[in-house]
Amino acid sequence: MHDYTNTTTVVTGASKGLGEAYARELASRGAHLVLVARSSDALNTLAGQLRKAHSVRVDVIAADLSDRRAAQTVADTVEELGLEADLLVNNAGTGSVGPFLGRPLEPNLRSVDVNVTALVALCHLLGARMVERGRGGIVNVASTAAFQPMPYQAGYAATKAFVLSFTEALAEEVRHTGVRVMAAHPGAIDTGFFDGTTASVDPRAADTPARIAAGTLDDFARGRSVSYPGRAFNRAGTWASRLLPRTTVVRITGGLNRKLGFDDVRDLAPGLDSAAS
Ligand SMILES: NC(=O)c1ccc[n+]([C@@H]2O[C@H](COP(=O)([O-])OP(=O)(O)OC[C@H]3O[C@@H](n4cnc5c(N)ncnc54)[C@H](OP(=O)(O)O)[C@@H]3O)[C@@H](O)[C@H]2O)c1
Repeated sequence: MHDYTNTTTVVTGASKGLGEAYARELASRGAHLVLVARSSDALNTLAGQLRKAHSVRVDVIAADLSDRRAAQTVADTVEELGLEADLLVNNAGTGSVGPFLGRPLEPNLRSVDVNVTALVALCHLLGARMVERGRGGIVNVASTAAFQPMPYQAGYAATKAFVLSFTEALAEEVRHTGVRVMAAHPGAIDTGFFDGTTASVDPRAADTPARIAAGTLDDFARGRSVSYPGRAFNRAGTWASRLLPRTTVVRITGGLNRKLGFDDVRDLAPGLDSAAS
């Protein structure tokens, strides 16, 4: 797939952040879209803007991907809409930050449900149909966090390690089917990922969602099986993780996250975001 024009892409987590940027970039490249997330108002607003700005069809599916039945609902709805997914961008993601034992369990479990379980289910349900048709693509959004254990983001980094391993294996399994599977590994992105907590992303050290979205889609169009769409420094960091002993790596990542204050994260009152704290 070198051209997104008139293809249909399902983008999960499209209501804000990187997923919204994927939707905007895909629409500007002529792709029809199915936008998935919980926030139906945000999805409908975005869908309206994209229809107005580009000659593309945009459908919305409001779904909570932490619910085990949601992936099937998404697949069924795509079929009921009379659409075939040419591309699936598994972008929806969430993660707890802070000391694992000092933070609530529920967000940790939810990140496994969304980042792992829903991603696997959507790959299975939509990927099987792509293989039947002999064409299609899947982009799974992992992270540079996938390459090493990360104290104070222990559960989140582990979900991304799963996405990395799963995506590489699936890409190899379908190599001769006409379906391509690619993992994307951004570093820090300037989104609201940590909203609701005292943790924040330093915008000076982060890429914009628009840059990451465009880079990922360019890499997929070029036929790459892996994308490092952010600044070069991020990719170099993944090599260090592969070369150094894991005990050394986990000490380093623990130290870096302590410097960012991730060992002492608190929830903010509703309505306050981390930039305001
Ligand atoms: N920000 C970073 O520094 C960074 C770095 C590397 C990788 N990533 C990855 O990039 C992806 C996008 O993250 P982001 O930074 O754009 O985060 P974000 O701004 O918090 O957006 C997350 C998106 O996922 C959706 N989502 C969360 N829980 C969901 C659920 N239960 N059901 C359905 N949708 C759900 C949200 O929509 P609703 O709330 O409307 O449901 C939202 O659209 C994630 O996979 C993340 O791990 C982020």
